[in-house]
Amino acid sequence: MAITIRNLRFDLATVPRHWHGGRRGVTSFFDNLSVFFPAGERFFIHSVNAHRSRVSSPALQAEVRAFAAQEGFHTREHERYNDLLAAQGYPVVAMDARVQRLLGWVRRVAPRRWQLGATCALEHFTALLAHMLLSDEAALEGAHPAMAALWRWHAAEENEHKAVAFDVFTEAGGSYPERAGTMALATVVFWAKVFEHQLRMMRADGTLWSPREWAELGRWLFFSPGPLRRLLRPYLAYYRPGFHPWDFDNHALLERWESSYLHQGEAA
Ligand SMILES: [Fe+2]
Ligand SMILES: [Fe+2]
Repeated sequence: MAITIRNLRFDLATVPRHWHGGRRGVTSFFDNLSVFFPAGERFFIHSVNAHRSRVSSPALQAEVRAFAAQEGFHTREHERYNDLLAAQGYPVVAMDARVQRLLGWVRRVAPRRWQLGATCALEHFTALLAHMLLSDEAALEGAHPAMAALWRWHAAEENEHKAVAFDVFTEAGGSYPERAGTMALATVVFWAKVFEHQLRMMRADGTLWSPREWAELGRWLFFSPGPLRRLLRPYLAYYRPGFHPWDFDNHALLERWESSYLHQGEAA
């Protein structure tokens, strides 16, 4: 899969607070994930680059450079997105600091290849959620156009580069127990943090005790469009010994996004 670097900027000036069709809990879920990206993607780039000397193939070396460039632009746009959240009164600066502290601790105590294993695990989650965003129109139905465009761009590129960290991990001698073990650990830590972020965002939004917003979010996450329900099977596939991210071939979906985004003229 060609990894195309697209230096896109999104005009967020007119994005309203509850930009996902007025659904407050669902908007908070997307915003919650956005807070992870700047620190998270810097961690991914660092852990992949730390193993570059183990990559012998020029093609994979080029993919590593393209991966870092894509993640760098994602970080920039999510920093702008998070600045908007901060201006709206969400405690995203403190939340980002907590993510940075956690990842800083991982970098100090975990073996380097485990850090890369955690990156592979989180890239798998990202690619799965991103596939659902792109494949199901309902996932961004009613969303502000700039936000829909930003999330779809990020989703497409996450899928383009979904195997890069994985292939570097393999070249660097990563074993199956390391891969499965780091996935198990990353699953617990990441989803606990997502839940914590959701509580913090909804508290700041005044919806923490709203049964209606929780019910709407639960319906959206587990039933329709149901990204978390649909996550389970492809998540478990990661534990297959011979698993590779491109076992699930979604090139056609990415090509469809590419032509629609060119058609809409979203490029900066
Ligand atoms: Fe990214
Ligand atoms: Fe990524």
